[in-house]
Amino acid sequence: MDEEWIDRLLSHADMAPNRTGHAVIPAGPPEWGGRHSALDVTDRLRHDLGLGWLYYAFVRSLRPSTVVCIGSGRGFVPVLLAKALADLHADHPIMFVDPSFDDDFWRDAAAVRRWFATFDVDKHIQHHLMTTEQFTATQEFAELPLIDFLFIDGGHFYETVRTDYDLLTPKLAAGATVMMHDTVSRSANPKWSGPRQLLLEVAQTDPDWQLLDLPFGAGVTILRRQPMQCTQEYFDGLCADWPHPGSLDF
Ligand SMILES: C[S@@+](CC[C@H](N)C(=O)[O-])C[C@H]1O[C@@H](n2cnc3c(N)ncnc32)[C@H](O)[C@@H]1O
Repeated sequence: MDEEWIDRLLSHADMAPNRTGHAVIPAGPPEWGGRHSALDVTDRLRHDLGLGWLYYAFVRSLRPSTVVCIGSGRGFVPVLLAKALADLHADHPIMFVDPSFDDDFWRDAAAVRRWFATFDVDKHIQHHLMTTEQFTATQEFAELPLIDFLFIDGGHFYETVRTDYDLLTPKLAAGATVMMHDTVSRSANPKWSGPRQLLLEVAQTDPDWQLLDLPFGAGVTILRRQPMQCTQEYFDGLCADWPHPGSLDF
């Protein structure tokens, strides 16, 4: 990734990080201090990828083999994930699943390919024009290796995001990273807070998950199962095995 590529990406008004909640500004509706005016943010952060730096960096540094991205308005997230794979010279694409429910943007396969080619990532994204439910019922999904990196940004009503979570998490590889977007809704209407409701439940019912909320833009949460090396059991084992308590040996 270089300045020219970033300029090219951000020269498309549709890719401005604030448009779909990826700018680094306080999350939440205006009365909580969030949702700066789009123009204000666009002017101040015109040349910044915002949370996009993070999405790119995760894939670039963790080198996941299987990447799945659910939902995107204009492709800001899948393009950055795919760009990281392209910059790693990976020979596999990310799986991008979006049924184009919000408008017709993803409906025409040739136009979608051209759009991704604008950012040199057409070989690194495979678009599936379908819902998560339909995608997970395909033979291709059945044959897909376990998922190393999952980004969930599809429907934001509770039932939809719950379905995404229930259908996709059983297919995660050990040590997989999950990111969920819109976890701090920019609307005060609870109907749009499905991702938050789901995460509150996950935190209650599955303490094995580590959750890190980043309350910027529309809110992003990183989920990862607690690594074995960070458990009490592992630590106790280390202490039990260490032969000379009190020594400063490393
Ligand atoms: C509006 S986008 C979310 C905005 C987002 N923050 C972004 O970066 O553009 C939500 C996308 O999820 C897709 N979507 C809705 N329901 C879905 C489902 N059941 N499975 C997969 N994608 C879905 C919609 O077609 C839409 O393009």
